Amino acid sequence: MGEKTIRILGDPVLREVAKPITEINGQLQSLIEDMAETMYKAKGLGLAANQIGETKRLFVLDLGQRENKPQLLVFINPEIIEAEGDLYEEEGCLSIPGYSTKIHRKAKILVRALDREGKEFERELEGLGARAIQHEIDHLNGILYIDYLSTLKKALFKKWWKKHGPRK
Ligand code: NI
Repeated sequence: MGEKTIRILGDPVLREVAKPITEINGQLQSLIEDMAETMYKAKGLGLAANQIGETKRLFVLDLGQRENKPQLLVFINPEIIEAEGDLYEEEGCLSIPGYSTKIHRKAKILVRALDREGKEFERELEGLGARAIQHEIDHLNGILYIDYLSTLKKALFKKWWKKHGPRK
């Protein structure tokens, strides 16, 4: 129980496609608590289950932390059902510590998911919230934001990671 180790780039679990959650039970609630604790301790905006080694379609998010108005959001089996527009903003990831770079994302999305009680909800988000949701759903599909970099930027990133990435 409690804070978990965040998996870092190179860990194969980050490349796995997470499986849909079929049962909302006590075990899942503990996982959600652990994920929230891990996210808050790491001062992250969001955390996907893969990032602590659980290949389940679940992520936690808190967009209010930076304004000191924390509000934990839980997304189970999330799906983006509509997306439009374009954003090109700086992104980072707890699994790739120390690095950040600009990538393209949709500017506005409509997401459908189950909350932690298993109730379906839909939510429209734009800007930071829209970007965060796309980032976390990518995690559930084994995708990392650095995958979107150009060949040149990827090569530069690899060099950077070799030098600055955590030692194994
Ligand atoms: Ni991430």
